[in-house]
Amino acid sequence: MRKKIVAGNWKLNNTVADSEALASAVAELATEVEGVNIVVCPTSVNLYPVKAKLNDSVALGAQNCYDKESGAFTGEVSAKMLTSIGAEYVILGHSERREYFGESNEFLKAKTDAVLAEGLVPLFCCGETLEQRESGIHFDFVKSQLTESLFHLSAEAIQDVVIAYEPIWAIGTGVTASSDQAQEMHKELRDHLASKYGQEVADKISILYGGSCKPANAEEIFAKPDVDGGLIGGAALKAEDFIAIAKSF
Ligand code: 13P
Repeated sequence: MRKKIVAGNWKLNNTVADSEALASAVAELATEVEGVNIVVCPTSVNLYPVKAKLNDSVALGAQNCYDKESGAFTGEVSAKMLTSIGAEYVILGHSERREYFGESNEFLKAKTDAVLAEGLVPLFCCGETLEQRESGIHFDFVKSQLTESLFHLSAEAIQDVVIAYEPIWAIGTGVTASSDQAQEMHKELRDHLASKYGQEVADKISILYGGSCKPANAEEIFAKPDVDGGLIGGAALKAEDFIAIAKSF
């Protein structure tokens, strides 16, 4: 059985006090959810205070980290620093980081290695633009993101990676991929993983969907056989909505 995961990406939102309140509310409601790994990913300055508000029902994740452990890299946060405050997950390669901060597949390969070496679970994001989908290159494009950043990993190491398919045209737009579109891409990615690592390994890797996922559409999307959960943006900023999504399996 693959791990079911619902992770909230809080992005650049919330003061410390806001984050603490949201974390407390999520932690309380999360005790009602069984069989789903619930993760919250606040901005880096809020990771430590949020951790103090969580319980065993909710894990902590970061939104990013650097590929170096320490040194003269002003403004960066390392994987070791994240584990030292109890983080278990880290989002890597979100389309916003790829677009606004120029993160390349090559850089994400190095970050993935750093994160795995520290025992953190990377939530590795991939996804195509609307133009790429309309021109029919979306499958090849997203598969190449996996190939270039992940396919150097051993069959053992790749099983510690969680993939999040987030079509860029669905992020923050209110337009979600249909459950069939999500399933189609997730199956394509699992087949791609199987072509490199074999079906048995591919079947162990959780693939999450992200992009305007909300309580009203999560159940249909999560019902698809290759969808193992969600990476949630806007709807994760309300504890009730976020937990309603986690209850959608
Ligand atoms: P929205 O759920 O706001 O569309 O954001 C999705 C996302 O980018 C999660 O990482």
